[in-house]
Amino acid sequence: MSDRYQALANSPVGARVTKRLGLPRPAVLRRYEPGQPLLDGPALLVAPDGAELADVTDTVLRSAGVEVRQPPGGDDRLAAVVVDASGVRRVADLAAVHADLSPALRRLQPSGRVLVVGRPAAEADGPQQAAVRQALDGMTRSLAKEVRAGATANLVLLSDGADDAAESTVRFLLSARSAFVSGQVVTVLPSVTPVTATDWLQPLDGRVAVVTGAAQGIGAAIARVLARDGARVVCADLPAQGERLARVANEVGGTALQLDITAASAGERVAEHAVGRHGSLDVVVHNAGITRDRLLANMDARTWASVLAVNLEAQLRIHEHLVASGTLGAGSRVVCAASTSGIAGNRGQANYAASKAGVIGLVRSAAPAMAGLGGTVNAVAPGFIETDMTAAMPFAVREVARRANSLRQGGLPVDVAETVAWLAQPGSAGVNGQVVRVCGQNIVGA
Ligand code: NAI
Repeated sequence: MSDRYQALANSPVGARVTKRLGLPRPAVLRRYEPGQPLLDGPALLVAPDGAELADVTDTVLRSAGVEVRQPPGGDDRLAAVVVDASGVRRVADLAAVHADLSPALRRLQPSGRVLVVGRPAAEADGPQQAAVRQALDGMTRSLAKEVRAGATANLVLLSDGADDAAESTVRFLLSARSAFVSGQVVTVLPSVTPVTATDWLQPLDGRVAVVTGAAQGIGAAIARVLARDGARVVCADLPAQGERLARVANEVGGTALQLDITAASAGERVAEHAVGRHGSLDVVVHNAGITRDRLLANMDARTWASVLAVNLEAQLRIHEHLVASGTLGAGSRVVCAASTSGIAGNRGQANYAASKAGVIGLVRSAAPAMAGLGGTVNAVAPGFIETDMTAAMPFAVREVARRANSLRQGGLPVDVAETVAWLAQPGSAGVNGQVVRVCGQNIVGA
């Protein structure tokens, strides 16, 4: 579904009209193209006294070919402002962050990036340090609501001992791959496997991935992006979707697996197909999902059960089998599709929100065992994404839902797919048990 208002607001006449009427102008977001530089301009690296991670961020930026400036760093436009706030201990330290950051924000170019790097409050020495570490959370989320023209702001918290695991996350949040990810906090833990060099153009080279619900929408986009990044992709979907499924599988040079994920043997079939046809199974993307919306008071037992069966029980059963059978081992990645409805709730979606909140519970609970295997499990929580599902919404409801985020537009399936692909990278071995919203900082929920 195309966003006609966005196209109009960005036309020469439309831009004048929206400006005069004070209407929002949803920016055309910079999105990733293979070979594109990480940033399309210089980055300002703000590292007040006591910053512990300046070397880490500086190295990542320079290795990605970014021109790095120190404050004040000239007066031209900036593609990114990276703030190393890892050294904050007292309330007064936040003033130093503010002093360097504030003037730089006016120089941020369209689709610019603000990336704040800190340490987790839970690992602080005492209440004051925990408080100022936590303060960065509120500052960054507010900034994400203030930056304009498609810019984003996110916070990365590097756990003690996780400095060498930060690169994939720093790169993702600075790059155009994270176009619709804003106002998020990602904690990077010490890597579950030794950190090795990554080919950033083909980070999934040699990996075998299964994507459920791959015949259309977000699942098809995930299959395309994983294949673009080097993976061999098994595209799984219902037999009724056979033709579409075959088309996507052919397009990505992968194989098609006709499968109802609610079948008792679904886990076995996934494992047999991936290992039998491709030799291993490294990445599992539990994307298939359905909605059957009704107010809870009017919802019959079948409607309730069908959504829970596809969106939650099937993921649980398949995951359990893949772990118990030893199919998932060191380096494996599991990414589950949750939803902002599972975080904030949504009228008419008690069954769907229950299933998606359940997925978040699954991810958090399964993470330590996955780390024990040398793997990770995470969730993506999409907000309003332009798909057949959202195109079917009544016009007024759709228009309100689409604009109710800091970027004033719906995301694209590719935005969810890029986030999945980042979590699937070998280099993302420090990101485990997390829920990353792909929602343009939707105003619903946290
Ligand atoms: P979609 O309805 O376009 O595609 C879902 C796919 O899953 C379909 O190809 C369908 O055939 C397949 N599927 C359904 N039941 C299945 C089963 N039992 N076995 C195997 N495959 C099955 O959905 P869309 O929009 O692409 O969503 C993908 C995921 O993202 C879902 O989990 C959805 O809940 C989630 N999501 C989507 C949002 C959006 O705005 N579109 C927002 C938040 C979450």
